[in-house]
Amino acid sequence: MFSSKKDVSQEQALDMSRIPAHIAIIMDGNGRWAQKRHLPRVAGHKQGMQTVKTVTMAASDLGVKVLSLYAFSTENWKRPSSEVNYLMQLPIRFFSTFVPDLVKHNVRVMVMGDTTRLPEATQKAVNDAIKDTADCDGMVLNFALNYGSRDEITRAVKQIASEVQDGQLDPANITEQTISDHLMSAPLGELADPDLLIRTSGEERISNFMLWQIGYSELEFVDEHWPDFDGDSLKRAIIDFQGRHRRFGGLVNQ
Ligand code: FPP
Repeated sequence: MFSSKKDVSQEQALDMSRIPAHIAIIMDGNGRWAQKRHLPRVAGHKQGMQTVKTVTMAASDLGVKVLSLYAFSTENWKRPSSEVNYLMQLPIRFFSTFVPDLVKHNVRVMVMGDTTRLPEATQKAVNDAIKDTADCDGMVLNFALNYGSRDEITRAVKQIASEVQDGQLDPANITEQTISDHLMSAPLGELADPDLLIRTSGEERISNFMLWQIGYSELEFVDEHWPDFDGDSLKRAIIDFQGRHRRFGGLVNQ
């Protein structure tokens, strides 16, 4: 783990030929960021939205292929309704100001999660952003909205069971790929599994995010609260990732 705000140029150089293709981020610490400043929690979410813009552009410029962001979990409905309502407004505010930049940077928006439970205006903002960026073939900005991995896996199991019941699928032919193909990340194809998972704000847990897909991800827990995270923080996390030896259960130099 690292937490200092050192200038990236003072550290080991970033190897541009080994940028992780898929980076997933659990954006934590908005509330604590606000509390430290004696501001209401939602001020942290507002600043967190600005960070989403900054980090999206930084990731796209570095050549990341997929950036998955945990924006609202299936458990976040338990928060006070005023906070939930604010969080539901954020995609509207975000996309209404940011879609032209996304298009300019060739970034395509995708969403994982049950969006049918979101307020109609939020659904519309999300669906419009997906449509408006559909022709972009650069980085995929993959928002997890009303997403929970156990919910995702439960839905996949139900779907697979019903295909078996209908005689479309022989249980003997169910492979790991069958499971991956039924998850909400399936449209990402071979990029569905994150290479690097970052969680901000010092908490070291996964909180029901992409449980199947992170089986072999490198995990990076950073102390900064999400609103303080920026392009340099992202670079530091990638440099740390590049110092690791991924073996996928095998041996080095195999
Ligand atoms: C966790 O911090 C953060 C969230 C539950 C919301 C994340 C949302 C954003 C960063 C903005 C999303 C932007 C768009 C465009 C959808 P917390 O509130 O749990 O912080 P705490 O642990 O310090 O209380």
